[in-house]
Amino acid sequence: MTTQSFSRIDDLRRALSEARRQGKRIGLVPTMGALHAGHIQLLETARSECDLVVASIFVNPIQFDRHDDLDRYPRPLEKDIEACHKASVDLVFAPSAQEMYGEGHDVLIEPGSVAENLCGRYRSGHFRGVATVVLKLFNVVQPGVAFFGEKDFQQLAVIRHMVAALNVPVEIRPVPTVREPDGLAMSSRNRNLTAAEREAAPVLYHCLCVARDLVNGGERDAAEVKRRALGVMAATPQFRVEYLEVIDPDRIQPLVRIEGRVRVAAAAWLGSTRLIDNVAAARANTEL
Ligand code: PAJ
Repeated sequence: MTTQSFSRIDDLRRALSEARRQGKRIGLVPTMGALHAGHIQLLETARSECDLVVASIFVNPIQFDRHDDLDRYPRPLEKDIEACHKASVDLVFAPSAQEMYGEGHDVLIEPGSVAENLCGRYRSGHFRGVATVVLKLFNVVQPGVAFFGEKDFQQLAVIRHMVAALNVPVEIRPVPTVREPDGLAMSSRNRNLTAAEREAAPVLYHCLCVARDLVNGGERDAAEVKRRALGVMAATPQFRVEYLEVIDPDRIQPLVRIEGRVRVAAAAWLGSTRLIDNVAAARANTEL
């Protein structure tokens, strides 16, 4: 079976209507393209759990807070459609910005308190842009389930909260982070790293692992976890750390005292490339 590709909303809706009539389970994987093994994992998970898989490829201008990042974002559309075909995706939706937003689009989704901290503090309007485009994609495709990577943990939380708060009838399915053999989380932006930066990049994950091991070992003081993890990062002076926080995994609020399940999340710059990553951790319940 070949993958069908659409750039118009009307055409995509027509192609989906028969599947919907037949009561097929439709899965959506929203992406910005430049597909890598992390995206492929989402597509394969969708393939194994749905009757019909739709991948969207849209570099969403309203979620970029920097022009240079939007301008240099890779757009290898033909290669991406080929990768979707290999992953047995049924339909690709690759609209233009004009098709998605037309002229004078000024309705935006305000994502609330989960978007306040971490990346939300540094990327003004970013999660508003993400929430808006994802809700639009949900309305265009009307999937039963949509797949999101844990790599973008705050984004996943923003989508979950939006869906719950606005009664959107879409199941949100998280997929674990896919990593390079040296631990670096796969990302479309990794290709912007110089050879020296690429060599240093896995340190971000290693310092998160140090934090995770401390928490799993019973450390309760978030400041101590941060101090030790940042100490590891400091050994690689190319890094400019934006944040490293121990957070509540549902509300995405930084913690002072660690109880139960947490997430340790960080963002750091290597030259002109911003990397983010996160790991799960849980304080062993020593008292009980
Ligand atoms: P993009 O960065 O292309 O990512 C698309 C999806 O792939 C997201 O759900 C992201 O979390 C997931 N992903 C990226 N790298 C991954 C990895 N290493 N392991 C597992 N999953 C990974 O995220 C976006 O696009 C956009 O913000 C979008 C949701 C499409 C809205 O525009």
